[in-house]
Amino acid sequence: MQDAGFVKNAFAGIASRYVLANHVLSLGIDVLWRSMTARLVAEKHPKRILDLATGSGDLAQTLRKSCPDAKILGADFSVPMMREAQHRNFHHLIAADGMALPFQDASFDVLTVAFGLRNMASWPDALREMRRVLSGQGHLFVLDFSLPTLPLVRPAYLFYLKNIMPRVAGWITGQRKAYEYLCSSVEQFPSGHVMEKLMKDCGYNEVRTHKLSLGIASLYIARVG
Ligand SMILES: C[S@@+](CC[C@H](N)C(=O)[O-])C[C@H]1O[C@@H](n2cnc3c(N)ncnc32)[C@H](O)[C@@H]1O
Repeated sequence: MQDAGFVKNAFAGIASRYVLANHVLSLGIDVLWRSMTARLVAEKHPKRILDLATGSGDLAQTLRKSCPDAKILGADFSVPMMREAQHRNFHHLIAADGMALPFQDASFDVLTVAFGLRNMASWPDALREMRRVLSGQGHLFVLDFSLPTLPLVRPAYLFYLKNIMPRVAGWITGQRKAYEYLCSSVEQFPSGHVMEKLMKDCGYNEVRTHKLSLGIASLYIARVG
């Protein structure tokens, strides 16, 4: 659970360097994670997709390629982040808070949220709000960071996350604090079975987890009905 004011300021501060920092810090692997997500979304043949916490629109752009016939709307509460999406030629955008979405019930067939849920003020309330705007047969796709569970990989990754990543990101964006926050938010964020249980408690069914890149990220897919 996060402080919305802090999160908004943090993303406003890094917006113009966000994409570059992402690609450098993940060595480009984030592109593969979004591609896999978009491929699995396409298997559901959605007509209406909401990409929540769309930020610079990276996932929305990838979805545009994998689901060329779908209407894709990006939503975010950070206008500076959405400006980056516009610079990257994605314009179907709306300013909206994930905690109180300005859409009627059952407005979308698929809702994607990449690296966004972790930053929201209440994970259960956000998951319920996402469920509300999904249709009865709709699907939720949550892509986010997680911590590897393998004995040697986990401490090595935590060392990178705490000591190397904020320093490198600080050089790129000038906003080291935002990336120290990233590290603590990843440590707090539920993953694996804990996330699956949270989603089920929020009314989702058939929750499945895909661990990506040794568990550095996870993709959760859940059905509404
Ligand atoms: C790490 S970025 C992810 C951007 C993009 N989805 C991606 O894959 O790169 C997180 C985004 O979540 C947005 N965000 C955080 N909390 C939000 C909320 N409550 N409602 C809407 N957007 C939110 C931030 O403004 C930011 O643009």
